[in-house]
Amino acid sequence: MQRVFSGIQPTGIPHLGNYLGALRNWAAMQADHDCVFCLVDMHSITMPWNPEDLRRQTLGSAACLLATGIEPTRLYNQSAVSAHARLGWIFNCVSRLGWLNRMTQFKDKAGKNRENHSAGLYVYPNLMAADILAFHATRVPVGDDQKQHIELANDIAQKFNHDMGTEFFPQIEAFIPPAAARVMSLRDGTKKMSKSDPSEQSRIVLTDTPDEIALKIRRAKTDSDALPSDVEGLEDRAEARNLVAIYAAMSDETMSDVLARFGGQGFGPFKNALADLLVEKLGPVATETARLMQNEDHIISVLRAGADRAREISEPIVQEAERLVGF
Ligand code: ADP
Ligand code: NA
Repeated sequence: MQRVFSGIQPTGIPHLGNYLGALRNWAAMQADHDCVFCLVDMHSITMPWNPEDLRRQTLGSAACLLATGIEPTRLYNQSAVSAHARLGWIFNCVSRLGWLNRMTQFKDKAGKNRENHSAGLYVYPNLMAADILAFHATRVPVGDDQKQHIELANDIAQKFNHDMGTEFFPQIEAFIPPAAARVMSLRDGTKKMSKSDPSEQSRIVLTDTPDEIALKIRRAKTDSDALPSDVEGLEDRAEARNLVAIYAAMSDETMSDVLARFGGQGFGPFKNALADLLVEKLGPVATETARLMQNEDHIISVLRAGADRAREISEPIVQEAERLVGF
């Protein structure tokens, strides 16, 4: 069975972008892949953080992932398994500054004030490469924003193999969903939906109540034209395109199917239908997350068992990498 690895930062509650770009595929891939899913708390401290929030949000995110259908034995948190840090350091020494300089996500996150960001934020793609390769995973279900980082991971694997004179690390294939691979903010069609956006109105999170979902969709930014009757009509209409893409992904239809139904109408009826659809699909996830959160000890023991399994898989691989570099 092909091994799959993917991770999510436990900084805040997973949102609709995480769900459509990644989490939904995680759950679906479990049936025919050997899956390893990780709460990447070491990535969460690349930006300013609060320790108590991080601890609480790690448990909350775990509950949320279990509620989306992730099997308990496949889930753990990164900092509990030392393979990540050990291989991450080796990769810091394999990766090139020139490669990291090209990463657009660093530029987006650091903005104009580069000098004041953590060194961790800069080298985080090296750690991400280690996350995947410590498991010899070959498929990585991620959103479109991670494509460049997967390419970098392949460059690192190739350089390591070349320098050590052995084909030790496999090549990785990003698995990016065909629809809604990049869900945009509900407030600004040019920005991706993100946990780090200060506006809570910009994203639907998996624990939102039906009322919160309906309100956020009703207030979602749009233009004032009617919906077009075909996909070409969405060009230069980022907000409209985003809502139609979300609808299509949630209902497993194409955007053309959706526009065949709603084209020519104003946004009112479409937004009502979209809110209903989101409530129908995400409501059960919110209910199950709340139920799981009532027993934190259970979540802690799930993560502990997941870490034991993750250690069993990654330890021999990282020990071999350490032997190859001369440790
Ligand atoms: P965030 O960027 O919100 O902090 P993470 O970095 O934890 O989210 O990403 C977790 C997963 O969710 C990754 O696979 C990422 O590609 C995916 N993802 C994040 N934001 C979006 C989005 N707006 N649309 C689609 N996928 C996304
Ligand atoms: Na991200």
